[in-house]
Amino acid sequence: MANYPTPHINAKPGDFGKTVLMPGDPLRSKFIAETFLESPVLVNNVRGVQGYTGTYKGTKVSVMASGMGIPSIGIYSYELYNFFEVDNIIRVGSCGGYADKVNLRDIIIAQGACTDSNFMTQFHLPGVFAPIADYTLLQTAVDAAKELGFTNTHVGNILSSDRFYGDDAELPEEMKAKNLWKKMGVLGVEMESAALYANAARCGKKALGIFTCSDHLFKTEFTTAEERQNSFTDMMKLALEVAVKMEER
Ligand code: HPA
Repeated sequence: MANYPTPHINAKPGDFGKTVLMPGDPLRSKFIAETFLESPVLVNNVRGVQGYTGTYKGTKVSVMASGMGIPSIGIYSYELYNFFEVDNIIRVGSCGGYADKVNLRDIIIAQGACTDSNFMTQFHLPGVFAPIADYTLLQTAVDAAKELGFTNTHVGNILSSDRFYGDDAELPEEMKAKNLWKKMGVLGVEMESAALYANAARCGKKALGIFTCSDHLFKTEFTTAEERQNSFTDMMKLALEVAVKMEER
């Protein structure tokens, strides 16, 4: 039995819905709660990591920030799964595009998450773990994207990197990390999902990452703030639909 509050979440079991949407940014958590949830209540604000619970189309749903990077989402997903009876965590974030077919503002649903992180060593596996999304969440998101009429959606592998800034700028182009991952069909890069998927696997719970492509590592295109906000809004609606459908199952 855990002691409440836990080190990073000042809430009680039952304060969260079965599904938690997890953006990286606390202000985005607040935006999602205030824009989409009915009667949102602030259930956590330790370190300004805002968590809210409300309802969406009658379903109790929560949204809480993860902070940036694998150690941070590792902490929050661990506590939510193990101590707060949360079953599903849907990360909603931005990613940098790698694949040619991915354009700015496209939605990527992460079937798998490669990583350059050492997070998996704690599990003492006699090989390499493949962090994958929960199939039910994945299928539900693909179906919901179709129903919402989103045509700019990709499903595939992403990279969860420990580094936003790398020291490989001096290397020849073909040696740079982004190019090597791209050659393996990786669609884009972010910094959290591999740890989320691994924690879900270890806890027997479910996880999915959905992203909008905010920048592209191989293309020089730009988006306006308004365009970025609209595509984020689409991604949030998609994640909320998944939360509702998971409740109906
Ligand atoms: N790298 C890592 N994470 C990201 C990026 C990126 O280029 N863009 C959005 N999230």
